[in-house]
Amino acid sequence: MLQLFIDSIENCILRSMSASFIFPKDFMWGTATSAYQTEGNNTNTDWYEWEQSKKPDQEYPKEQCGIACDSYNRYKEDFNLAVKLHNNSIRISIEWARIQPTEDTFDQKEIEHYRQVLQEAKSLNLKTFVTLHHFTNPIWFAKKGGWANLKSPSLFAKYAQKCAQEFGALIDFYLTINEPDVLAFQGYVKGIWPPNKEDLFLPILVQINMTRAHVQAYKMIKSVGNYQVGLVKNIMWFEASPEKNAVVDHIVSKVLYYVNDDLFLKPIMKYMDIIGLNYYFTTRLHKLVIKNVDDIQNDLGWWVNPAGLEKVLLKLKRYNKPIYITENGAADQIDRIRIKFIREMLGAAARAMKQGVNVKGYFYWSLIDNFEWHQGYWPKFGLVYIDRNHNLERVPRESFYYYAEVCASGRIEI
Ligand code: GCO
Repeated sequence: MLQLFIDSIENCILRSMSASFIFPKDFMWGTATSAYQTEGNNTNTDWYEWEQSKKPDQEYPKEQCGIACDSYNRYKEDFNLAVKLHNNSIRISIEWARIQPTEDTFDQKEIEHYRQVLQEAKSLNLKTFVTLHHFTNPIWFAKKGGWANLKSPSLFAKYAQKCAQEFGALIDFYLTINEPDVLAFQGYVKGIWPPNKEDLFLPILVQINMTRAHVQAYKMIKSVGNYQVGLVKNIMWFEASPEKNAVVDHIVSKVLYYVNDDLFLKPIMKYMDIIGLNYYFTTRLHKLVIKNVDDIQNDLGWWVNPAGLEKVLLKLKRYNKPIYITENGAADQIDRIRIKFIREMLGAAARAMKQGVNVKGYFYWSLIDNFEWHQGYWPKFGLVYIDRNHNLERVPRESFYYYAEVCASGRIEI
């Protein structure tokens, strides 16, 4: 009895020390995936072709994508998981190579497939956030020079227009391109993604072309209907280590942030109804060398730093557009940090919202463990574990139930 009394007093004290933040009623709660990483058998893409051409001495790709999570066939099962999470929205992507297998043809069967996928989501009351380009390209497009081709924007815009004509209001938010800077960096600076170039000039050209592609696609989609359109940008936070004499680190981190955010986003703001923000980590500089803190790191060694999300959101405020956190997640095989990660990231979003930032939604990356590009399957970002030895069985992790509670109540303790 005495113990019970002490426990309840303790609970009262704890409760009075923490405050809750209640998210707006219309806040979008969701998870994100992409087609190549989950559907399986996307054989008509440059990524698939690269996997087939791997030589024995090549480090990457570590694994072939193969059947992925078979979400092409099991999307209903996946959407039901989203429903169990009390989500009211979902972010998926369409594989361009399926819709437009050659430059001159659209595949009606595949269009029907995606129509069914979208109809299923809508029937479950999930708002649809759909990315039209998430890293992979049709082989025909890659053969024409991919994103280095000056005609790439109009080629992409034609596909975007077709999507708008076919899917119309089945897509609530059209997300044209995912993370142009990441593709330019991995594919054209580091050369570890197709088309495996290591160049100084090409990454700039590719980013310019992808920016132009977004603008052309925006106009095309708007010519079909007044749908909400935006681009998804990966933005990391850069900061100087708090130690003294860090003037150079301060300047360099400001420049890096500028290049990563303003330089790219400012010119296209007129063509953005919404901003899609992917936030994963912070980079801290000390004497021009990366020196991160070890407080929370995910399995890939990224310093996840929730305070960085708040800072990025505060920076984005000046654009005066609705912001959706279209990706935020941690590779965490044993679910060691995920609950804390989600709580603190949402806490960071809440603090930004209290300071007037118009954050309208949050999508955890990812609903299910999936194919993490050149790394293969070992990084596990999912709220749901995929048992690759047992028929790709979907097994929710503990963090799944935590996120479900947050989405149901629309509140967190901060
Ligand atoms: C990206 C992509 C996702 C990744 C995720 C985890 O940001 O690179 O949008 O496809 O899987 O970010 O690295």
